[in-house]
Amino acid sequence: MKSFIFSSVALLVCLTPATYSWGSEGHRTVGRIAQNFLTSDVSNQVATLLGPSDTLESVSTWADIIKRDPMWTWSARLHFIDTQDDPTAVCNVDETEIALLEATIANYTTQLDSSNGFSSQERNIALKFLTHFFGDITQPLHVCGKELGGNQHLVTFDGRSTNLHAIWDTDMIRKRLTDFSSSPDNAVEAYAANLTDTINSGNYKDISSGWVSCIGASQDAKQCPLQWATDSDALNCQVVWGYVLANPDVDLDGEYYNSVVPSIDLQLAKAGYRLGTFLNQLLGKGGAKFLLA
Ligand SMILES: *[C@@H]1O[C@H](CO)[C@@H](O)[C@H](O)[C@H]1NC(C)=O
Ligand SMILES: *[C@@H]1O[C@H](CO)[C@@H](O)[C@H](O)[C@H]1NC(C)=O
Ligand SMILES: [Zn+2]
Repeated sequence: MKSFIFSSVALLVCLTPATYSWGSEGHRTVGRIAQNFLTSDVSNQVATLLGPSDTLESVSTWADIIKRDPMWTWSARLHFIDTQDDPTAVCNVDETEIALLEATIANYTTQLDSSNGFSSQERNIALKFLTHFFGDITQPLHVCGKELGGNQHLVTFDGRSTNLHAIWDTDMIRKRLTDFSSSPDNAVEAYAANLTDTINSGNYKDISSGWVSCIGASQDAKQCPLQWATDSDALNCQVVWGYVLANPDVDLDGEYYNSVVPSIDLQLAKAGYRLGTFLNQLLGKGGAKFLLA
């Protein structure tokens, strides 16, 4: 009986539309990494804006939860970009394709900026959206139009039938988390700590400045979304689709998983570091403002 109940629940979960983005663990990891980089002043402002029961980690999935609410369904369209890709030959984001996300990030940046007179509730919502979208833009299949970002591309992972988008959002991250802790509650924290250390003193130390080079007073920050989406989309040609198209019947929880794990680490690290750097710039006292030319 018990297992019957479990499998019914599992079935219901599977029937829900697979439109999540970096499943909740991915977004939580991004929120936690960002938190690790906040200056104490900005960290205090974030805590004030979010209230005592929330953190960047806990609000990171808010945008995915509310998009099913009739009041917020308009926002569902903001989580992905349908580029005219043909991986592995063509992976490219153009100005038209990025326009909506660019406007969205500018919109919520303006609302979060303390000097523009928005209410604390508006600023709270802006922070929650930005925390989420900084994550989505680094998930390669969120900037890929092929087969609805892989949602329609059926695959097998660990013996289970699913789709390519879902394993990038969720399954492969869940598997990756088991490298850090057998307890799901501790694993996100440990994974985020590992990626934070890798940015501060490990393999990402010399490359992380490039991830945030568009954030800064002398830059036109409107370029960030296009730069970041283009960077993510390149992975569709480099690592996401090649093996999958060439090996249609192979379970992806093997050679494929092992080959893409470095990219999953890298993308989550980028998202978290960008979010932390961005918030320090935008909210930091006397810091350069995030310029929206
Ligand atoms: C800007 O934010 C407001 C408040 O959430 C929203 O109603 C509007 O649709 C947003 N515009 C864009 C382009 O994101
Ligand atoms: C992060 O984890 C990897 C293994 O996935 C390990 O090689 C590396 O040493 C860890 N880094 C830190 C800073 O703990
Ligand atoms: Zn999303």
